[in-house]
Amino acid sequence: MILVTGGAGFIGSNFVLDWLAASDEPVLNLDKLTYAGNLANLAALQGDARHRFVQGDIGDRALLERLLAEHRPRAIVNFAAESHVDRSIHGPEDFIQTNVLGTFRLLEAARHYWSALPATEKEAFRFLHVSTDEVYGTLAPQDPAFAEDHKVEPNSPYSASKAASDHLVRAWHHTYGLPVLTTNCSNNYGPYHFPEKLIPLMIVNALAGKPLPVYGDGMQVRDWLYVKDHCSAIRRVLAAGRPGETYNVGGWNEKPNIDIVRTVCALLDELRPRADGQPYAQQITYVKDRPGHDRRYAIDARKIERELGWKPQETFETGIRKTVRWYLDHPDWVAQVQSGAYRDWVATHYGAAVTSP
Ligand code: NAD
Ligand code: TYD
Repeated sequence: MILVTGGAGFIGSNFVLDWLAASDEPVLNLDKLTYAGNLANLAALQGDARHRFVQGDIGDRALLERLLAEHRPRAIVNFAAESHVDRSIHGPEDFIQTNVLGTFRLLEAARHYWSALPATEKEAFRFLHVSTDEVYGTLAPQDPAFAEDHKVEPNSPYSASKAASDHLVRAWHHTYGLPVLTTNCSNNYGPYHFPEKLIPLMIVNALAGKPLPVYGDGMQVRDWLYVKDHCSAIRRVLAAGRPGETYNVGGWNEKPNIDIVRTVCALLDELRPRADGQPYAQQITYVKDRPGHDRRYAIDARKIERELGWKPQETFETGIRKTVRWYLDHPDWVAQVQSGAYRDWVATHYGAAVTSP
């Protein structure tokens, strides 16, 4: 079995669903269920014995040791993190707590568990750390995209905390020999994306008749990757990546924010036109910029393609259409997230399948 942390969040839940769709290898899912964790994302796995959910913190060393001893995973995939840049600006402490201290505690628990494994299991064990392109800082318009050897120059409390965790992971390999893999991925989008992030926020605000807040001039560039492609890259790195290596994952799809927002509006005009017949783009509102806002991210994903044969399957056109449709088809999920009712999911729907520490 594998241990997935943060498997009730956006990417983690997509990963768990895809993993169990592709294989019967069980998943132990450890998630603290912060505001970003939503067990409704995993509703399709209710009653599925291959999925075991434990509500808990990656910073809880005693819990980790108990889970590792009891379940003996062959790999750990670490998604658990505080992930929203704007929240990190307003309250950085949780980011240090989970992303830095939590990753440290998880590494230590993994190291002690791994050290005591029999030789063949020890050889096969992997610790995969899921990270972000934001650790590399920002690019000027003509700069080459981030390759794995780009300087690490984080600019926000979020990216600094992720860079710190990447450094710890690297050091645990170099010093202790822990067989780690790190992936640094660009911006994801797709189903189950919490509507505080750009794309889902624009979809739900548009449908609710609210303003679509574009920061600054809207010309900041991100490199968008459909979440299922990120999940397949992680599966590939876990299966064939070289311990100690970092793999950048991206969609070869750089776009300014304003283009993303206009594309979402155009799709909604087609799929769910406004009652008054006016275009959704009328709701676009330019607002004050984010402090320290990185201008451009772009990933050079040639290493993972060359060494592991991974390439994204979706184009932005196919991925964004699927995403907008998903939000239109799941009004209950959106309503629960917006009302906060999803936080009752554990008690009302999951019952005994959830273990609390
Ligand atoms: P998310 O915020 O949607 O989910 C994070 C999950 O981690 C939540 O379920 C939350 O409950 C859980 N969690 C938080 N603190 C925890 C703790 N202390 N112990 C256990 N669980 C905890 O984030 P996401 O967008 O799914 O991102 C997942 C990972 O991928 C993060 O490490 C993030 O840095 C990285 N990443 C995200 C993107 C992106 O575009 N979203 C891009 C590249 C990398
Ligand atoms: P976000 O989804 O928060 O991801 P990140 O900051 O990790 O890249 O934001 C993506 C881009 O969209 C980023 O340049 C900030 C911008 N943005 C807006 O313009 N308006 C918004 O309401 C949000 C949430 C983001």
